[in-house]
Amino acid sequence: MYAQALISLVLATRIVAAIEFADYDPQPGVQAEFKPFFEALVNAAEDPDVTMGYTDYFPADGLQTTLSLHCVGAAGIQKCKDGFLADGRQLVHWPNITFIAGNNETATVYEAQGRIKNTYIGGNCSQIYYKTQYTVLKTEKGVDAAPNLNTTAQQQVYWYHDYYINPTTVPSNIPCDSRTKKRRFVEQEWMA
Ligand SMILES: *[C@@H]1O[C@H](CO)[C@@H](O)[C@H](O)[C@H]1NC(C)=O
Ligand SMILES: *[C@@H]1O[C@H](CO)[C@@H](O)[C@H](O)[C@H]1NC(C)=O
Ligand SMILES: *[C@@H]1O[C@H](CO)[C@@H](O)[C@H](O)[C@H]1NC(C)=O
Ligand SMILES: *[C@@H]1O[C@H](CO)[C@@H](O)[C@H](O)[C@H]1NC(C)=O
Repeated sequence: MYAQALISLVLATRIVAAIEFADYDPQPGVQAEFKPFFEALVNAAEDPDVTMGYTDYFPADGLQTTLSLHCVGAAGIQKCKDGFLADGRQLVHWPNITFIAGNNETATVYEAQGRIKNTYIGGNCSQIYYKTQYTVLKTEKGVDAAPNLNTTAQQQVYWYHDYYINPTTVPSNIPCDSRTKKRRFVEQEWMA
């Protein structure tokens, strides 16, 4: 019994994802393929054990920008990623409105807004609001062509741009709300 509970707990810990789609609200035009792509990208971004599995989403001149912090190329992006995950903190994105902010023959720009929950070791959970744009390159050029939404890293993300973050410091003064309790409940269900 104990061993079984322990195994379930380990599985439950591994299952915890860096993105939750409970509030996801894709607007007309956002392809169904965007969701699994977005999930794979954010999970790679927020997993401290993933390195090239994340930076390979970007071309050599790819960018990750958070407000005024610009991270360029694989080494720069990795350094910023490590900084965001410092102190063992865990980030879970809760996107809500998601729409196409721009599109041309070479790329589509998606925008997702929502909340990020930051949990520190010891369980200090707080939230920030964010708005992020993702520029995804097209393999096949053309205004009507879909961008490369393959879930595997194929240097298709030109720019991961967090242009709005509020508050800008974590832990923030916004406590995690009832949805966190719901989330814990779900985890307990998995453990049962
Ligand atoms: C197409 O859109 C991308 C992303 O906004 C931009 O970087 C690029 O310059 C645009 N290309 C043209 C030809 O306008
Ligand atoms: C979605 O997230 C944005 C940015 O955090 C927030 O301003 C907005 O109130 C949220 N919308 C809904 C419907 O929850
Ligand atoms: C994603 O890319 C892989 C590797 O190139 C390819 O085998 C697979 O068919 C692609 N998936 C889709 C849905 O295009
Ligand atoms: C969580 O972080 C906030 C902001 O730094 C702090 O005020 C609070 O005391 C912390 N709570 C715990 C339990 O560490």
